Amino acid sequence: MCSIIGYYGDGSAAPILVRGLKRMEYRGYDSVGVATKDQQEILVKKGVGKVSDVNNMLHLDTLPGHIGIGHTRWATHGNVTDVNAHPHPSSSGKIAIVHNGIIENYSELKADLEKRGYQFKSQTDSEVIANLLQFNFDELLDIKKSMIKTTSQLKGHYAFVAMFESGTLAAAKYHEPLIIGIGKNGYFLSSDVLGFIEKTDDVIYLDNGEFVILDRLGLQIFNFDGNPVKHQVTKVSKEFADVYKGDYAHFTLKEISEQPDTIVRAGESSRDAVSNATEFIRHARNIYITGSGTSYNAALVAKYLWQKYAKIKTEPIISSELFFSPDAIEPNSILIAISQSGESADVLEAVNIAKKSNAKILSIVNILTSSLAQESALVMGMNCGPEIGVAATKSFTAQLSIIYKITEKLCDGCIKLDERKISDAVSRILADHTKIKEIAKELREIKDIYILGRAVHYPIASESALKLKELTYIHAEGIPGGELKHGPLALMDSSVYVIIINPNDHTYSDTLTSAREIKARGAKIIGISDKPSDVYDFWIEIPAIDDAFYPLIEIIPIQLLAYYCAVEKNTDPDYPRNLAKSVTVK
Ligand code: G6P
Repeated sequence: MCSIIGYYGDGSAAPILVRGLKRMEYRGYDSVGVATKDQQEILVKKGVGKVSDVNNMLHLDTLPGHIGIGHTRWATHGNVTDVNAHPHPSSSGKIAIVHNGIIENYSELKADLEKRGYQFKSQTDSEVIANLLQFNFDELLDIKKSMIKTTSQLKGHYAFVAMFESGTLAAAKYHEPLIIGIGKNGYFLSSDVLGFIEKTDDVIYLDNGEFVILDRLGLQIFNFDGNPVKHQVTKVSKEFADVYKGDYAHFTLKEISEQPDTIVRAGESSRDAVSNATEFIRHARNIYITGSGTSYNAALVAKYLWQKYAKIKTEPIISSELFFSPDAIEPNSILIAISQSGESADVLEAVNIAKKSNAKILSIVNILTSSLAQESALVMGMNCGPEIGVAATKSFTAQLSIIYKITEKLCDGCIKLDERKISDAVSRILADHTKIKEIAKELREIKDIYILGRAVHYPIASESALKLKELTYIHAEGIPGGELKHGPLALMDSSVYVIIINPNDHTYSDTLTSAREIKARGAKIIGISDKPSDVYDFWIEIPAIDDAFYPLIEIIPIQLLAYYCAVEKNTDPDYPRNLAKSVTVK
């Protein structure tokens, strides 16, 4: 859930590490730290806050040396404190480590090491790696042997980079990402290519159960048994270099604004994979579809569309729930896993469980080198470019674009996604933010907001609530229109705002009736529709399009509203508190 980085080369390590960490801050950002190897010793600086704030305070990037490691943290074990921030030195200070993941047996290991006189300063599970490695190195006096021993003792999922006093870097990967970048003047070890993309696009993707040693001899890769491993050097897509905000105030706004392109790209580029996926779906006995957060909301849209247009039944399962009912997956099934990052631990676990029932795994994923992509029999790439803002925006509509393409095939063209038309409609919504900004001002002080939608618009209401929660910290709830009278109506009074997702389709008049019932209780109504109505206190107009495709465009004004509301409230839309972009721990 954190990001780790290491550098070994001719350049000045600290500024390279800090830049890399800034780009990977989306992975976790409650504290940050850097350690470098100076002439004699390992120097560490770390503190609580975002990379630029901590760097302004502590000048992480002025640490001397050509070898170093760095980390941004998203707390799992231990509070957000300076001491719990990484890097963690061993008790002798001769090794320092940065770690992403969870060490499940850390308390046993820690108790044992404490008995042997090793001291621990933090409450983290990670610190045990530093002392365990130190203990093994003190015994074996050999870095390779001590890595083999240490990795055999650690239980859990992890990627870590260790820096030895001698200046050698050693790193291990086990079910958490770790990528090697090969630059002209140095090597990088990083959770994400974004950590080093400015410097090189030559990479090696390690497999689970491998470790790396970087020293004067160069790069050596071994499996956990100590046997050398050979890997191809591959090139990462240049578009990953495109991770600047440009003229936009925030990545979130940039990513919302990219949707006229990304919707088209997702639909067009997934064409072949979609044809193959359709065959799998047609021949499967049972179809399950899973994801977390936004990706799960996309799964709910798929269920609705495939049922309505192709008469195909799909069961959506929240990824984190499958663990508790593994029998839900019947034999000869397929599981379609949706994930922007392809690294969400809950999704990967769901895939694992489904594989135990011999299910075929299909995935809709943005990062084609991700663990999910590797686990899948068939991958449909979202092709929407890097998404840095923690709240998913363009990845959601890219997922929908692919889901529509599948629907089109499954129903033999009964609906036809014209990406260009949708793209135009999205551009029209994005052309003028004035009204949405005004409404965002209205919402600045409110405590609760509800979003109402019927049929396929209910998953969009859920996704809208998620965006508002993530970006504005306002309590937000998506409600299926008909359920209003079964409870939520009791909540309606003059302090409440309700967003009504109300395009002019078969749900229109029922949803309008719900809006009137709400208005009669004094609540204010924000209508998202192509048709005006006197019931709306605020009307956000969307273009009229073919009924089937409204979900692709009606989410856009709500993404913008959540964004501007965050700006009004002075919260950081790119990095909401307590959240991380890819949750790689359970
Ligand atoms: C995290 C993010 C959410 C995201 C979810 C699933 O919780 O904060 O915004 O929707 O992970 O991410 P994935 O990469 O699997 O789509």
